[in-house]
Amino acid sequence: MARKLTASDVDVSGKRVLVRADFNVPFNEAGEIADDKRIREALPTIRDLLDRGAAVILASHLGRPKGEVVEKLRLNPIAERLQELLGIPVKKVDSVVGEDARAAASSLKPGEILMLENTRFEPGETKNDQELARSMALLADLFVNDAFGAAHRAHASTEGVAHFLPAVAGLLMKKELDMLGSVLRDPQRPFTAILGGNKVSDKLGVINNLIGKVDDLLTGGGMCFTLLRAMGKSVGNSIVEEEQVNAVKNALKRAEALGTRIHMPRDLVVADRFSEDAAVRVVSADEIPEGWMGLDIGPLTVQEYREVITASRTIFWNGPMGVFEWELFQAGTRGIAQAVAESGAVSIVGGGDTASALKRFGLEDRVTFVSTGGGASMEFLEGKELPGVAALMDAREEA
Ligand code: 3PG
Repeated sequence: MARKLTASDVDVSGKRVLVRADFNVPFNEAGEIADDKRIREALPTIRDLLDRGAAVILASHLGRPKGEVVEKLRLNPIAERLQELLGIPVKKVDSVVGEDARAAASSLKPGEILMLENTRFEPGETKNDQELARSMALLADLFVNDAFGAAHRAHASTEGVAHFLPAVAGLLMKKELDMLGSVLRDPQRPFTAILGGNKVSDKLGVINNLIGKVDDLLTGGGMCFTLLRAMGKSVGNSIVEEEQVNAVKNALKRAEALGTRIHMPRDLVVADRFSEDAAVRVVSADEIPEGWMGLDIGPLTVQEYREVITASRTIFWNGPMGVFEWELFQAGTRGIAQAVAESGAVSIVGGGDTASALKRFGLEDRVTFVSTGGGASMEFLEGKELPGVAALMDAREEA
């Protein structure tokens, strides 16, 4: 893919800049922001634009309100948190392209910030409605897409609007593309991928794209039971996606032909039911008792995987090794997280559950890079073009 122009390549002084960020952050039951990483990661782009004399208009989605106004999904708490982090006022309007948004945007002065309402309150957002995209573009002179986490969505505020304004990448977007791109382009070897999580169907695209590129692929989490089944093993009551067994068999054959070693758990922590106080046992992966289910990788597997990780120079990790939210089943994910943290390798973690696991174990700062994108980082590593990136101007175009 051609290099994309970034905000640093263009003069923004005196311009009104529409910045698409991904402020889709988790909230706790009390309605407070549970993790503000995505807000903090957007700060360099916002500060840089303000410092260079731009007026910044921020747009983001939050949750999936399906084109309707949902009170608890308004962006007011995000604007408040941003104001605390930046130490300057963040104005907020209650619409995306309504009269108040137009008036506030046109009166915005250099160095000021305005936050629009949740883009998904607009029915046209997820349909990539061209009228909505055009109306958003009318608010500004330049579009900066910094929402890597939403770049796999072809929505009006991520893709559509880029066709109505000069459109460039923000600093976070650039960092994400550079970091994830570097593991696909020229990783230092040995290169190891660690894939876990529940569903192999979510990971097959990445598995297939990484086969032939990685030296070792370590598997864990619920998805490994479909792999074990594909190898003819009995998996008791463990989660299996029967319809994926043939696709997994093909992937295993390709891996063998292309020299990627696929590792599967040698032992497992099994439980008599899916519960945080279930009865548990550690068994060989060949001997899962009937009626029991695997909920974590076992200690021998952690040891074996640790050896591969320690010898690696590049690591990509997406997906926990077990149900790490429950104490009985967190040793596998914790052991792998510690091994990655101590490896000294370039370590890149695809967002979501893996990032929460690292945070829980206090190891978030011990890896090279934690992506802000869950689905987006996976689609990128599947080798797919991200529509929110494709629509930006190539470096040879002029802003
Ligand atoms: C995410 O959280 O992965 C992004 O913000 C995209 O959200 P979505 O899956 O609702 O499109």
